Amino acid sequence: MSDWVKLGQVADFEEGQTVVHDFEYETAVIWRVGEKFYAIEDRCSHDDGPLAEGELEGCQIICPRHGARFDIRTGEALTMPAIEDVNAYALKVEEGIVWIQAPEEEAW
Ligand code: FES
Repeated sequence: MSDWVKLGQVADFEEGQTVVHDFEYETAVIWRVGEKFYAIEDRCSHDDGPLAEGELEGCQIICPRHGARFDIRTGEALTMPAIEDVNAYALKVEEGIVWIQAPEEEAW
């Protein structure tokens, strides 16, 4: 079972703001959309573009390198040139604190 990592208070996250969190082997990018939080891997599956630097449209992030779109709720690749999904991370909010679940390989 993976560990949960504290990201911060709900109030620290502004709508549409991009927040990056480094795990040991991966980097996650987190967005707040309304009252929900979503996180995917900060690495485009096409050619490693930095998704944290992309433009967010609703629940889609647009890769800044070649324009592939991903669903930030699931990590699903939606448009070419990306054909592989990226990792999506579980998030939870408890007592006003946002937590992210570390990837399996991070757990000891
Ligand atoms: S690196 Fe993201 S679309 Fe090419």
